[in-house]
Amino acid sequence: MKTLYAVFGDPVGHSLSPVMHNAAFAALGMDCEYHKFRVTKDDLKEAIHGAKAMGFGGLNLTIPLKEKALRLVEPDPLAEAVGAVNTIEFRGNSIIGHNTDGVGAVNSLKLSGIVISHSNVLLMGAGGAARAVAYQLASKGARVTIANRTPKRAVELAANVSSVGRVEGTGLEDLASLVEQSHIIINTTSVGMHPDIDQTLVTEDMMHAGQVVFDLVYNPLQTKLLKEAKKAGAITVDGIKMLVLQGVESFRIWTNAEPPVDIMERAVRDVLGKQ
Ligand code: ATR
Repeated sequence: MKTLYAVFGDPVGHSLSPVMHNAAFAALGMDCEYHKFRVTKDDLKEAIHGAKAMGFGGLNLTIPLKEKALRLVEPDPLAEAVGAVNTIEFRGNSIIGHNTDGVGAVNSLKLSGIVISHSNVLLMGAGGAARAVAYQLASKGARVTIANRTPKRAVELAANVSSVGRVEGTGLEDLASLVEQSHIIINTTSVGMHPDIDQTLVTEDMMHAGQVVFDLVYNPLQTKLLKEAKKAGAITVDGIKMLVLQGVESFRIWTNAEPPVDIMERAVRDVLGKQ
């Protein structure tokens, strides 16, 4: 009998996780299938326990369920520190919560040949995505500055993450000089996301050659920020890498199999290319 996997979210219609994981299962000849289900926060507990009762192999969680799940499962230390769960593992009688978002982001940079330790990283945004990324970058030895439209959120996030590394929080007022001083610039805000595709917080004149610019937004794939970065001669990393590499870590947790990363990435890029 097939082993089922799923992503829960609300909304979840546009999730690319099924395409990515089903491509991996097919490539490895595994008798597994991955689906998406719309689950509200109120129904999350029943949905997780229902999946466990039905013998699901594992789950992903997306907006707006990641934070709520923390209190419904046994979080591992990383998920606990980040304050959010994006991957659920059914292990014996236990329901374990993991967070692979930050690892996905850091591996996106590493696989592009970028050294994180001792780098100055400018992280724009202070929401859920920023939290996972900031925690992972700081614990890998980067010097992280979180810049956010609402400075208070950046300062609070920096204080939370400062137990694992060097992190400061600030507003967007001095963005030009922060960009100038950074080796790596990461956008975790929704600026530039469809339909506002002509927006960017950082423009060509603020960046220079040799910098690395990583946009977590993958809709569109070539955001205004990445286009401006290319014009400035910067190295760019698009949001598909993180989407795929967080999925790769989930796949490892569930299956103990080595995920076919290139096949997963191609499956997602094919779908996005057709949209
Ligand atoms: P996620 O969990 O995906 O990170 P979120 O928690 O809603 O989403 O966070 C969105 C981030 O994008 C926030 O940092 C938000 O800034 P505020 O904290 O000030 O709201 C940022 N953001 C959204 N729209 C923005 C805009 N037009 N300009 C600057 N920052 C913006």
